[in-house]
Amino acid sequence: MKSKILIVGGAGYIGSHMVLRLAQAGYEVVVFDNLSNGHRDAVLAGDLVIGDLADRAALASLFTDHRFDAVMHFASSIQVGESMQLPARYYANNVGNTIHLIETMIEHGVQHLIFSSSAAIFGDPVHIPINESHPRQPITPYGWSKWMVEQILTDCDRAHGLRYVALRYFNAAGAQPEGLLGERHEPETHLIPLILQAASGRRAHISVFGTDYNTPDGTCIRDYIHVQDLADAHLLALDWLMQGKGSSAFNLGNGSGFSIREVIGSVEEVTGQRVAVQALPRRSGDPAVLVADSTYARAALGWQPQYTNLYEIVQHAWRWENKCPPPL
Ligand code: UFG
Repeated sequence: MKSKILIVGGAGYIGSHMVLRLAQAGYEVVVFDNLSNGHRDAVLAGDLVIGDLADRAALASLFTDHRFDAVMHFASSIQVGESMQLPARYYANNVGNTIHLIETMIEHGVQHLIFSSSAAIFGDPVHIPINESHPRQPITPYGWSKWMVEQILTDCDRAHGLRYVALRYFNAAGAQPEGLLGERHEPETHLIPLILQAASGRRAHISVFGTDYNTPDGTCIRDYIHVQDLADAHLLALDWLMQGKGSSAFNLGNGSGFSIREVIGSVEEVTGQRVAVQALPRRSGDPAVLVADSTYARAALGWQPQYTNLYEIVQHAWRWENKCPPPL
């Protein structure tokens, strides 16, 4: 019998790629999403149940209607800067609502959870690249919310035998290679889609937040990891849990960093368009450099990212920008 997987937030950017990947791999999928940031038409497989994690009754009936073998949790508020302005809202959604999900899982005897964590749990790096033993010292409510959930999961494993894998994404980017899915945040705040919108003429320029960082060209350096490679890591993490291996956490990135100016250069190369740049002051909560050491994920999960080339990541995102221009 096919395993049945619940994808919370499966109508969103990374979640929707996951749904398609799981269906392609032969899993049965149920999506639970409140459509606050997700899109109904991004759910290309499985059943969509519209509901909110704040609604415990809706969660209880979801778990009564289905017998899930595992849960993947992608639904959270994701804007690092906004979390500085609205911390309570971030804790309520990212921590409070996740507790509802965890409690419901425990009540219904569902023991496997894959949780979308973030490089933001590490705060300002004390060494680069960042491996799993790097100190966890978040500098934003967003980062704290992810780290708090990891702590809660550790305790729930001890108390209830809930087995989890926390996947700490660095900068998710790109789009489904055939152009079926892509990034559609409203408003968009992520670097690559914003630069592409400037390249396609839908924006006048790209604003660069900070040109005085201690990096070779003064702009922030990030580790961009293809959304499809993230989905593959989840499949491997699912196998890990299904094989009865213990709870664990993995850092997911390509291991190479690109500055904002380099990303702009890559977009110009892919699109053949010049992108106008407006230099602005730093955005609060941004570390200068975030680059992953994913040795553990490669060794333990057998994860092998396919799209290690920034050009290809940008190319897939550009295909999506042209195919399905998301609203500005
Ligand atoms: N940036 C700009 N101009 C923009 C948008 C972004 O200069 O218009 C800069 C940011 O300041 C940052 C870099 O581009 O230096 C990347 O910014 P993103 O907003 O694309 O991504 P973040 O690094 O802020 O955050 C992303 C995810 C988080 C996750 C983090 C981990 O959104 O959930 O990666 O690295 F925690």
